[in-house]
Amino acid sequence: MSNDTLLVRHNATGKEVEYPLLKGSLGADTVDIRSLNKDLGCFTYDPGFIATAACKSKITYIDGDNGILLYRGYPIEQLAENCEFTEVAYLLMNGELPNAVQLRDFNEEISDRAIIHEALRKFFDGFHYDAHPMAMLVGVVGSLSAFYHSDLNIKDPASRMICATRLIGKMPTIAAASYRHSIGRPFVYPRMDLSYCENFLNMMFSRSSQNYIDQEHYIDPNLVQALNLLFILHADHEQNASTSTVRMAGSTGANPYACVAAGIAALWGPAHGGANEAVLNMLAQIGSVENVPKYIAKAKDHDDPFRLMGFGHRVYKNFDPRATIIRKTCYEVLSRTNTNDPLFELALALEEYALKDEYFIEKKLYPNVDFYSGIIYKALHIPVEMFTVMFAIARTAGWISHWLEMMEEPGTPISRPRQLYVGPPRRDYTAVNNR
Ligand code: CMC
Repeated sequence: MSNDTLLVRHNATGKEVEYPLLKGSLGADTVDIRSLNKDLGCFTYDPGFIATAACKSKITYIDGDNGILLYRGYPIEQLAENCEFTEVAYLLMNGELPNAVQLRDFNEEISDRAIIHEALRKFFDGFHYDAHPMAMLVGVVGSLSAFYHSDLNIKDPASRMICATRLIGKMPTIAAASYRHSIGRPFVYPRMDLSYCENFLNMMFSRSSQNYIDQEHYIDPNLVQALNLLFILHADHEQNASTSTVRMAGSTGANPYACVAAGIAALWGPAHGGANEAVLNMLAQIGSVENVPKYIAKAKDHDDPFRLMGFGHRVYKNFDPRATIIRKTCYEVLSRTNTNDPLFELALALEEYALKDEYFIEKKLYPNVDFYSGIIYKALHIPVEMFTVMFAIARTAGWISHWLEMMEEPGTPISRPRQLYVGPPRRDYTAVNNR
């Protein structure tokens, strides 16, 4: 019997089948059980995909036990230290880091695509002033398909690349427009002379009488660097809920703008990208360091709906390397911006208290990427409702890279899970008067 197989025995029939173990370049082996139903007449049951690999991918690798995160093989710490966000987006999409000419051309293309159609801009007028920016983002990104449908051929690699750069280019413009609409200020057009992060900050914070970033590009470079870092850390995270949603929608042949809008919707939930907004709200609710023990007790009580937001991860069971980088950056950003944020002190106290608590130790619950990211966004004057939008801008690079990868894979089947039916067995209709 081969070492590269897994033997499955159906005890009721005595039938045994060997299933191949697929080996990746890193990480655990994966059993190929695609013929299980044909062989043994049963399915696998794995709600939440806790033990299921839904695809092969070359993009991102996570070793949750050792706190390792690699984009295309490069450690996140090295990319965070050295790269600009668009360089990382190029890496995720193309598999290799760009050379200087490729990066210049990519940046130019991204800048060129940042402008949105005037008719799309008017969509914002249809939203109520207090609409959540994520609600606007889902709607407007999905609506891109109404503008770019006729020239889209998802079977053509060049056409797919145009969709990818268009989405990365337009996302900050749409995101900033949703913020501007929510505060009743006029839309700010993108500028080609600014970098990706500078341009976003300018579109967010310029006033009609004054550009946030002037012609001499005056802006505190530390703020741009902090934003760049957060975008890099959020750019991809293999088969998370929103990326899997993009892949699932994409598996039907749907257009990529609709697929990414589906990803944005999945990201919004507080268990996923909505956690960064939830963390700040939680810290405000806790209020002060004296209340930490009370809230830790609430988080441990299964009858209490309160959870420690920004804690825990499906894959990381030791530490989240992104949280380690962000915590360090928090110190730097707060000191450089002379911000004395009591919420940062509170977050540190909460982390320290939780990490000594038996419940959190036993369940391997550590701060995740979202625990400290909000503190930095707050220091950059990004409003709390925009936090998940910020995540979406960055994750667009990952979503679209996975969509590109899936489209390149020949014969990708439509995603169509099975179920364990536990409803009533067949029964006959009863007329309404007899019920
Ligand atoms: N506070 C208190 N208890 C927790 C927490 C928490 N934040 N997270 C997990 N637990 C407990 C949970 O109650 C369960 O206990 P038991 O085994 O007694 O039932 C155990 O730990 C395992 O948790 P789980 O919910 O089964 O784990 P999961 O892998 O399904 O969920 C998670 C992972 C991230 C959804 C969850 O930890 C969570 O809800 N955390 C808070 C929200 C959050 O910060 N989300 C951002 C994730 S990172 C950014 C991203 O990738 O989106």
